[in-house]
Amino acid sequence: MDERERFLIRYAGSFAPEPIARAEGAWVVTASGKRILDFTSGQICSTLGHNHPRIVAAVRAALDEVVHLNSWMLSEPVLALAERLVGLFPEPLDRVLLLNTGSEANEVALKLAKMHTGRFEVVGLTRSFHGLLSGIASVNFSMAHAGYGPLLPGSFAVPAPYAYRCPVRHCDGACDCTCLEVGFELVDQQSVGSLCAFVVEPVLSAGGIIVPPDGYFRRVRELLDERGMLLVMDEAQTGFGRLGTMFGFEHDGVVPDLVAVSKTLGGGLPLAATITSDAIEEDCYRKGFLHVTSHVSDPLPAAAGLAVLDVIAEEDLVGRAAARGATMLARLRELQAEHEVIGDVRGRGLLVGLELVEDRESRRPADALGAEVTRECYERGLSMNIVRGGGAHANCFRIAPPLTVTEEEIDLAVEIMDASLRAVREPAAA
Ligand SMILES: Cc1ncc(COP(=O)(O)O)c(C=O)c1O
Repeated sequence: MDERERFLIRYAGSFAPEPIARAEGAWVVTASGKRILDFTSGQICSTLGHNHPRIVAAVRAALDEVVHLNSWMLSEPVLALAERLVGLFPEPLDRVLLLNTGSEANEVALKLAKMHTGRFEVVGLTRSFHGLLSGIASVNFSMAHAGYGPLLPGSFAVPAPYAYRCPVRHCDGACDCTCLEVGFELVDQQSVGSLCAFVVEPVLSAGGIIVPPDGYFRRVRELLDERGMLLVMDEAQTGFGRLGTMFGFEHDGVVPDLVAVSKTLGGGLPLAATITSDAIEEDCYRKGFLHVTSHVSDPLPAAAGLAVLDVIAEEDLVGRAAARGATMLARLRELQAEHEVIGDVRGRGLLVGLELVEDRESRRPADALGAEVTRECYERGLSMNIVRGGGAHANCFRIAPPLTVTEEEIDLAVEIMDASLRAVREPAAA
């Protein structure tokens, strides 16, 4: 441990064993020279890999031109990025606000939704994660409520479509959306008549890589329309290719009213955006919408965002995520055949979950094993997140390498997982 760690507030438990000195592509290198395959893409941001030369060049150029401005001054990178983003979204999503973090982009989406509808009740999914600022954290149902006082009034949860562990004990392995219907019945009975918006990830990530069944969002849209509610898609992790489509909402062909993008837009720099329609923008503008922050519409991160979009298009990273994701799923299912403790493998594109259980019959979450395997993988040079699978148990690996990952790197990661599982479960044999 570095002595100077004691000057830091510990914001999420413990820190990695050693500081990182450099990073490139799918790899990070520690201060002592240990190379680690990063299958979390940093915080799921570095979809182009770490320190992609195009991002580095864009930032260098911005340093020579303009880094930061007063919020009412616009710049070429900001105008160009707004136009590029609007070009990527379907009609009527044609207005953009450039921000910094995912929490902020969700906050802005909800502020716009509230001002436009004149209502305040917000619905989310159990197991969801949308960020830790107080407003949006109220509909963050996977974690981080205890200890921080009251949530925003009018925050409701609907059970997540978690087919492996059906929340209403109804399906097994294939969700038929009963959880959604039951959830909205509960919401209706608790609402004070001010239902405003439903905020949702296309694939729930921190909650255990939960992939909603086909058609789920079409039914969501119907339920929202019946109630005059808006659909807010949080594409923090899924936007710009990770699922093998440019955006996660494309899968069901449903167009949201507001979209929040963040992590994957900046390629490692703090850049986020909220996107909505002309009609919502115009209405909120007339009502005096205000969201000024120190770094709204900053030119430097916008320049990085343009480089990210260029590389995604030029290197067909959306197509690559689909192809490499299929390889990853296939390889992990082979691994599952070898290990009884791998209860479920699921995902879409390059966002894949692998859930550890004590045995496949009981499906009891194996969180102690998860922690041990995570440590062993790290020792052997593979970094992966463990997130929540069953209940509050941390037993599900979230596997999310850069979209530029190679087949060889996937093979290496699966080999390390295999060796780590064996080493932890059969120490004598390893
Ligand atoms: C789906 C989702 N939304 C929002 C956020 C919050 O983003 P940020 O940490 O940039 O505020 C995250 C962060 O992990 C996320 O995964």
